[in-house]
Amino acid sequence: MKNIVILISGGGSNMKSIVERARRGQWREKHLAQIALIVSNDPHASGIQWAKQQGLKTLVVDHKLHQHAPEPRLSFERELIKALEPHQPDLLVLAGFMRILSPHFVGHYEGKMMNIHPSLLPAFTGLHTHQRALDAGVKFAGASVHWVSQELDAGRIIDQAVVPILPGDQASDLASRVLTQEHLLYPRVIENWLMSASGLLHL
Ligand code: GRF
Repeated sequence: MKNIVILISGGGSNMKSIVERARRGQWREKHLAQIALIVSNDPHASGIQWAKQQGLKTLVVDHKLHQHAPEPRLSFERELIKALEPHQPDLLVLAGFMRILSPHFVGHYEGKMMNIHPSLLPAFTGLHTHQRALDAGVKFAGASVHWVSQELDAGRIIDQAVVPILPGDQASDLASRVLTQEHLLYPRVIENWLMSASGLLHL
């Protein structure tokens, strides 16, 4: 049974879709994994409240409490690693986790950390992806799940979902169309990884 830790910073709609998937189907029947912990760097993230109500283990590691440390990012990440280790994570799932991670942290979890990004990578890495896609005039957008590597949004792509860009779309229209697909894509990718890691599926 694998231990999955999900890291969020906000509403955590992707986290919810993963937790819901974990409760049914193959994942549940074959005891593939447990959601060992939900972590937020923001004490006000509404997703943390939801996770608590679901009876999941939650933890807040507030990055702001490290802002006066000599090396704020490293100090925050050291606390994060210390908090994660007792849960023996097999997979770290970044789901709207809005902190850039240093090579120190990424190196520590090399090959064990996935992220979802709301664009068809390698296009539109970074922020404001939907507006940038509209400004560029592309006809399709989407979401990508990728392994986290040292370079931002540049790790090996695991899977993608594509949506059309429709005439008159605003960034918010595109964001919600993409997010609907993210909720299908991310749980499926994780479940496939679990099946493959358990020898039940050959990817
Ligand atoms: C998603 O669009 C995800 O792709 C991006 O941040 C957003 C998080 O949404 N990384 P939520 O917190 O899962 O609702």
